[in-house]
Amino acid sequence: MTNPVGYETEGDIALICIDNPPVNAAGQAVRAGIRDAMARFAEGPEKIAVLHAAGRTFIAGADITEFGKPPMPPGLPEVCDLLEAQEKPVVCVIHGTALGGGLEVALGCHYRVMLEGARVGLPEVTLGILPGAGGTQRLPRLIGLLPAAEIITSARQVPAAEALELGIVDALSDKAPREAGLEFARGLLARGAGVRRVGDMPNPEVDEAAVAALREKVARANPGQIAQLTALKSAQRGASMSLRDGLAEERRLFMTLMASPQRGAMIHAFFGERKVAQLPELKGVRPRSVGEVGVIGGGTMGGGIGVACLLAGLKVVLIERDGESVAKARAGIAKTLEGSVKRGKLKAEKRDAILADKLVTTDDYAALGEADVIIEAVFESMDVKKEVFGKLDAVARPGAVLATNTSYLDINEIAAATSRPADVLGLHFFSPAHVMRLLEIVEADKTAPEVLATGFALAKALKKVPVRAGVCDGFIGNRILRVYRTAADHMVLDGASPFQIDRAITAFGFPMGPYAVADLAGIDIGYLTRQRLRPLKDPRERWADWPDRLYELGRLGRKTGRGYYIYDEQSPKGRPDPEIDEMIAEERARRGIAAREFSDEEIIERYMAAMINEAAKVVGEGIARRPLDVDMVLLFGYGFPRWRGGPLFYADQIGLEKVLASIEAAAREDDFFWQPAQLLRQLAEEGRGFGSLNG
Ligand code: 3HC
Ligand code: NAI
Repeated sequence: MTNPVGYETEGDIALICIDNPPVNAAGQAVRAGIRDAMARFAEGPEKIAVLHAAGRTFIAGADITEFGKPPMPPGLPEVCDLLEAQEKPVVCVIHGTALGGGLEVALGCHYRVMLEGARVGLPEVTLGILPGAGGTQRLPRLIGLLPAAEIITSARQVPAAEALELGIVDALSDKAPREAGLEFARGLLARGAGVRRVGDMPNPEVDEAAVAALREKVARANPGQIAQLTALKSAQRGASMSLRDGLAEERRLFMTLMASPQRGAMIHAFFGERKVAQLPELKGVRPRSVGEVGVIGGGTMGGGIGVACLLAGLKVVLIERDGESVAKARAGIAKTLEGSVKRGKLKAEKRDAILADKLVTTDDYAALGEADVIIEAVFESMDVKKEVFGKLDAVARPGAVLATNTSYLDINEIAAATSRPADVLGLHFFSPAHVMRLLEIVEADKTAPEVLATGFALAKALKKVPVRAGVCDGFIGNRILRVYRTAADHMVLDGASPFQIDRAITAFGFPMGPYAVADLAGIDIGYLTRQRLRPLKDPRERWADWPDRLYELGRLGRKTGRGYYIYDEQSPKGRPDPEIDEMIAEERARRGIAAREFSDEEIIERYMAAMINEAAKVVGEGIARRPLDVDMVLLFGYGFPRWRGGPLFYADQIGLEKVLASIEAAAREDDFFWQPAQLLRQLAEEGRGFGSLNG
């Protein structure tokens, strides 16, 4: 293997360049390369060294692919110590991002120059670990315990100007990395500046009350997670220790996190998020262009999709039914953009330019003639969708991609309403569409490969997490959701309360339980789905009636101030409505069901068993390509806690035999609902996990 760390000299200056594409991760070869370069520098005549990187970024961190494998020396902490121990000054130049181990390497150097537009951060907690190469020790010594602890626990990326202000870096530059380093080094030489080790700086002061307040805030923001609080502990303990002891304590805590299942789950999420976008069958398939997007329907979803496209710099032509609806849709988009301006995410001039030049709103379908991709987001009705796709056939240019945002409907049937079914696919966004990262890309029977590839290209432009799905009722996410929600409804019929279920599910790590979610999405949505499915209902299927009662009473959730919860001034976020318990008790009495107790553990076990079982069916049927695709859908669209990795990763953690046993136990009460997935049974019998199918 060639050495990814180059060494050249320019007069008295040694230029050490890391070149390990794509992101200069500090894998073993890079670490060894830096060590060897430091040995040469120590021996050589050069008076100062500049460490910089080639390509799009400085070191993006430790090489995550090495995690969980036997350590290969030299370790990153050793490399950072070695840099710091040099007797001659070492300057680091940061461009792109210096993240995690990348920033730690920079902190090991004596001086730091940062290119404008670059960012630094310690994102380790998002991987379930803590900065383990001195980050929790050196950053507090450099900038103070609280600012450092805030950066470490929040994992946020600090922009260049702020990094300079905080003292993380010594100077900003608008030059290329090599030139920036040379210029700074020459300045140091001219001043005769010597080494300046962060490790020699005095321990940071500790404001116990402020640390306690931060700890409380971090715990509240990251329920269930251990990395953030452990990282804070490491920084706090180090503040009253020598650097050497602090580093040893950091290492010890780092190793405990490395061994935790949360680390495994977060790394699975990190790579899963990237892997879903890489479909082997699309390798080499060229997507069509995505510069101009047509959106039909400017309601909740169409408006959000329009905003997502506009914020990504695309041109949007939005079609509504009539003049009044056009004006309403335009006002809705303007309001959302205004929100972005208020939050500082969008400049007012940029917003004005978008509204003037990039957004066309009209009720004339002919305006769609130039669109590359047209996304339909009209009412969830097959008749309306077919009518719209019939019209598109007449107005869309040849080669335009025709997409539907349907939540459940059969996309093959929608595609058949056009003369060009190969151009049709599903692009299932999630609400709010400009915020939610998930995008299910639904491949219909006749979807052409380059049309599917165009869906992925659009997702990339919108910075979404795209997951390929096959056609079925609800695709991946909504299909699984219906099953675990039904499992919850059954538990309620048998004695649990919706509020207990919500509490148990939030304690598990979801931001909301299924009933709070229903209130947020609107009780009407679930009702309409049930109405649509009622005629298809199997006689053996258990069906709870009480959710429909809410709809009949006009209790549609948050938007009407009442659903399962009451939303008013007293409780804007909702409080349980005792009438719900009465409604459920009535139904139990009518059906002769004797309510029984459910423990929170049993609720989680059943809820997760239902989710895992349906997820296994979805993979077994090829609706999802791999278990990790399902995991990413639940993570990015349904609030599944990232630190648990997704339902199928979680299933592997608890053991498939155990999951199967839960399903079989539940099947003794209801063998229609609880039919074990063939794939789950097969994997359990073979002693394998879902992870073995991820490739
Ligand atoms: N290790 C190994 N591979 C990495 C990596 C890392 N630290 N960071 C990124 N990659 C890989 C990605 O998996 C991807 O591979 P692929 O092309 O095969 O899918 C490729 O590099 C490009 O990554 P992105 O698609 O994410 O590229 P972007 O340009 O969108 O983003 C980035 C660049 C902002 C650097 C982003 O990759 C990122 O956030 N990386 C992770 C940063 C991180 O978490 N660092 C901390 C690591 S832990 C650590 O340092 C421990 C230490 O304290 C001891
Ligand atoms: P909505 O009712 O808020 O908006 C639909 C819009 O379509 C209305 O503004 C209506 O005027 C317009 N419209 C109806 N017929 C039209 C036509 N022929 N031409 C032009 N415009 C027309 O509905 P929402 O919630 O935006 O849903 C739209 C689609 O997105 C549905 O298929 C739904 O299932 C799907 N979806 C909804 C999600 C949600 O959370 N609301 C999530 C994901 C998908």
